Amino acid sequence: MELDGFAKPGSQESSLLKRIDKDRLPKHVAVIMDGNGRWAGKRKLPRVAGHRAGIESVQDIVESSAQLGLEVLTLFAFSVENWKRPHKEVRTLMSLLKEFIRRELAKVHKNNIRFQAIGRIQELDESVRSVLRNAMRITKANTGMLLNVALNYSGRAELVDTFNQLYRDLKQNGHKSPIDEDLISNSLYTSGVPDPDLLIRTSGEMRISNFLLWQIAYSEIYVTPTFWPDFRRRHLLEAILEYQQRDRRYGGI
Ligand code: IPE
Ligand code: IPE
Ligand code: MG
Repeated sequence: MELDGFAKPGSQESSLLKRIDKDRLPKHVAVIMDGNGRWAGKRKLPRVAGHRAGIESVQDIVESSAQLGLEVLTLFAFSVENWKRPHKEVRTLMSLLKEFIRRELAKVHKNNIRFQAIGRIQELDESVRSVLRNAMRITKANTGMLLNVALNYSGRAELVDTFNQLYRDLKQNGHKSPIDEDLISNSLYTSGVPDPDLLIRTSGEMRISNFLLWQIAYSEIYVTPTFWPDFRRRHLLEAILEYQQRDRRYGGI
């Protein structure tokens, strides 16, 4: 495929883009953005320098995903388990998130992207929540790519919240129909969003770390050794190319 302004003519990105079949793009790409701390460690910098550098990758991947025409991009930014980290690191991550939204919101909006935060948002600081609310309000009528940012997110916590909500509905409205997979899918934080086709994890770790447990049942998994702060559109194109070579059988033949 070809896209205006996406890549310099003759560049590696441009030749990768040419090999991508625009009719078989993944609709939903989810990313476990990992390796910021190791990226910084390699440079003898503090971990937070890695988080700061990781913002550049977020900008590039959000913009290029929208340009490519992906329907949904889900980024794992902060897990429920990440509260175990030193207070100062957590504080920096929250500040960087606010800074990113303040700086990028106008461009996100201009690119017709709809912003959504998923996770236990109610447990975040009011200063973070107000920035998130504002971003969701401003972009809510946008019809382009959905940008889901998973914050204070854990797949198991999502299932617990979902089942509690279903239980409350059931108590209130009585028994209507048996619970089935569609009902659960439509009650998750990601209700109405197609499951990820492609799950990318950076920095080489071969695990899911409690991300989208229900939704990734049949996602294609792509792990790259590249640390998140080094991940750019070229790496996204490489992941999509590999995805297009996979044979998705869903248990069939
Ligand atoms: C990912 O990088 C960012 C978050 C989890 C918030 P890490 O901070 O986990 O970096 P590593 O994995 O320690 O290198
Ligand atoms: C997963 O990365 C969470 C995010 C990317 C936000 P972690 O660095 O927290 O995962 P583990 O600890 O290596 O499993
Ligand atoms: Mg990590």
